[in-house]
Amino acid sequence: MSDGEVTKYPGGSAEVSWHGGLCIHISECGRAKGDLFVGGRKPWCQPDVASNDEVLDIVMRCPTGALSLKIADGSVPEKVSTENTVNVAYNGPLFVRGQLNIEGAPSNAPGLKFRAALCRCGQSKNKPFCDNSHDGTGFKDYGAVGETGKPCTEKGGPLTVRAAKDGPLLLNGNVTIVGGSGRNSWNGKQVALCRCGASENKPFCDGSHKKIGFTSDPEATGDDR
Ligand code: SF4
Ligand code: FES
Repeated sequence: MSDGEVTKYPGGSAEVSWHGGLCIHISECGRAKGDLFVGGRKPWCQPDVASNDEVLDIVMRCPTGALSLKIADGSVPEKVSTENTVNVAYNGPLFVRGQLNIEGAPSNAPGLKFRAALCRCGQSKNKPFCDNSHDGTGFKDYGAVGETGKPCTEKGGPLTVRAAKDGPLLLNGNVTIVGGSGRNSWNGKQVALCRCGASENKPFCDGSHKKIGFTSDPEATGDDR
């Protein structure tokens, strides 16, 4: 994707940034108790109504990386989580959290180092990120995960995400996949996840992208599969 527009909400001691191209309007921010985000108010986000810790807590709820927080001294208070996880959403995207390195990610979205929503229906116009296209296209997958991977005692560390051209999402690093039911389903260090919507073994790639002639966006990088 291109860098896209970022709106900044400065406060006395911290600044919230919102990347409009990544937001899929899940409303974790708007539904949070308190007045940090109030729909219809100008400005929508007012960091001074809450402590920096409270602002950070709400910013970290954003599952797409659209929101990020910077303290007045320029530091970023969000810490990487100790575990990398992929949540397979019911009829929706892959919600990834952890120490992320998403190749080709826009440089003006620091939240993507921690959180991202990745398209798995194949229809997003903002690949590899979700843009809610699954809603209008009838994408159906409840997030059951049939495989278990390999038991692994190591957790966390860098997780690289590469969107293979016309193929799957290639994840490298310690990662746990959480199925749509909330079950910790799969552990491992390397996995290819379907992003064309056609795999019969979702969330894993089974090569179906070739059968359906899946075409990813021109910015996708990496090897063909
Ligand atoms: S939590 Fe993030 S993705 Fe959801 S509405 Fe707020 S900014 Fe958008
Ligand atoms: S990307 Fe969907 S089957 Fe490979």
